[in-house]
Amino acid sequence: MTDTLPLRFFHRGQVVSLSNVPPDRTLLDMLREDLSCKGTKEGCGEGDCGACTVVLGQASPQGLQLRAINSCIRLAHSVDGLALWTVEDLSADPALGLGAGQLHPVQQALVDCHASQCGFCTPGFVMSLFAFYEAHDRADAPDRASVERALSGNLCRCTGYRPIVDAAQRMTALPPARLDRQVVLDALSQIAPQPVRGDYLRPSQLTELLRLRAEHPQAQIVAGCTDVGLWVTKQHKRFAKVLDVTRVCELANISQTGSRLRIGAAVPLEEAYQALCRLWPELETFAARFAGLPVRNSGTLGGNVANGSPIGDSMPLLIALGARVVLASVRGERAMPIEDFYIGYRQSQLAPDEVVAYIDVPMPDAASGQWLRAYKISKRYDDDISAVCLVVRLRLEDDRVAEVSIGAGGVAATPARARRTEAALRGQVWNQTVVGQAAQVLRQEFSPISDMRASAAYRTQVLGHLLQRLWLQTQGHTQINLEAISGEELA
Ligand SMILES: Cc1cc2nc3c(=O)[nH]c(=O)nc-3n(C[C@H](O)[C@H](O)[C@H](O)COP(=O)(O)OP(=O)(O)OC[C@H]3O[C@@H](n4cnc5c(N)ncnc54)[C@H](O)[C@@H]3O)c2cc1C
Ligand code: FES
Ligand code: FES
Repeated sequence: MTDTLPLRFFHRGQVVSLSNVPPDRTLLDMLREDLSCKGTKEGCGEGDCGACTVVLGQASPQGLQLRAINSCIRLAHSVDGLALWTVEDLSADPALGLGAGQLHPVQQALVDCHASQCGFCTPGFVMSLFAFYEAHDRADAPDRASVERALSGNLCRCTGYRPIVDAAQRMTALPPARLDRQVVLDALSQIAPQPVRGDYLRPSQLTELLRLRAEHPQAQIVAGCTDVGLWVTKQHKRFAKVLDVTRVCELANISQTGSRLRIGAAVPLEEAYQALCRLWPELETFAARFAGLPVRNSGTLGGNVANGSPIGDSMPLLIALGARVVLASVRGERAMPIEDFYIGYRQSQLAPDEVVAYIDVPMPDAASGQWLRAYKISKRYDDDISAVCLVVRLRLEDDRVAEVSIGAGGVAATPARARRTEAALRGQVWNQTVVGQAAQVLRQEFSPISDMRASAAYRTQVLGHLLQRLWLQTQGHTQINLEAISGEELA
């Protein structure tokens, strides 16, 4: 028997209210089965293909924030108090001001550019492009790189991407249809807050979250649901009680003090990585290769850290940056280096009454001779999980290694710090011989396993090569021509 409060969201010009929605029902099932919005498709059911993409609108101090997300792995109750658009809504929403039967510029451009064949992926592309169209509020054509970024979570198996990218670049030249954001914000402000009770608990204050965590240690904590959603769709797990951390205002903020950047655990990955990239622009490629945009829009940094996957991408980076995780409970707060948080395969120090509250990252050192490089080795360039991830932060002083920290993923049961390799480098002259020896130490420091992503031998080999790559980059090689490097250097 479900004990949940009504689920209310703004959709097609009105507030929809649904009762008795189970706490673990997915947004996609709610849309297709309860609301008959069957334009939104189910492809993979695991956040990989983008066929289920919808757009969420949330009121924020900066105005209405629009985000494309995967509805297949998101829980329905998470959209309470938000606005929701599906592919059917672009010509049906009065806030978009289109006449009956009139296509939105995104849709018209896809038609004009012949960008759909079987059409199964098209609703997802339309929604990712709708969010992108709203973010790109100028008449000039968006550049190809930003289009590719916006579409990084959408797969098309038959049309090919060229006509779709053409459509994205053409849509802004068509007669505009911009969302009247004030209409949406006014409607959202009319949705009254509900008490925090029942089987889907969504507190808005940290003290309330900690009390609920202590009272309901068995409740499933959920943030962006990009890991938990797969447990529902693929492992058919059921959750009788869910504790959603995403509306806790203290956890949804990024703040900067003199010496640290504090990222709330519920900050979406996209925003968290943008903040990190502002401080370390060299992380941009790495950040863009974390999943695809809809996953980064929903998933959180705290979720990545709490989940503790040995192949997760944020942890090697956070280890190299010297970050600390702050845990909170009704008993108080405690903080520790990220690498000390993990005690075994998917096991951490998190107590049953604790939550991950913040990630504290030291601000970059302004001193010269700083290097930060993050390498992700995966089978696909976009939207893929790492086989190996290596992040190195290095500070050279008079050609010697004054400081070094190395985080590694995909090589042990937990995200790991390469302490022996750091020791082999610290204080040494930064030259090819020392780097070659350190690469050997790095290869021996871990005992990776073989799995579908890579063999143990490959992982071991590639680890050392990545350190060699860093060496070459510090010597001014930007494009690395492997044929020009001697076998000895690669060994
Ligand atoms: C298609 C796809 C691609 C992906 N690609 C990548 C990738 O490239 N790199 C990568 O590292 N990961 C990837 N992931 C995994 C996932 O997106 C990340 O792990 C993400 O950061 C999880 O965050 P979330 O907010 O969605 O967590 P959720 O799924 O909501 O939660 C994950 C776990 O963390 C716990 N949790 C969440 N927040 C807290 C908190 N504040 N306190 C205590 N416990 C908490 C939950 O109880 C749960 O056990 C991918 C996932 C998908 C579906
Ligand atoms: S159905 Fe494939 S991402 Fe949701
Ligand atoms: S049009 Fe068929 S999968 Fe894209």
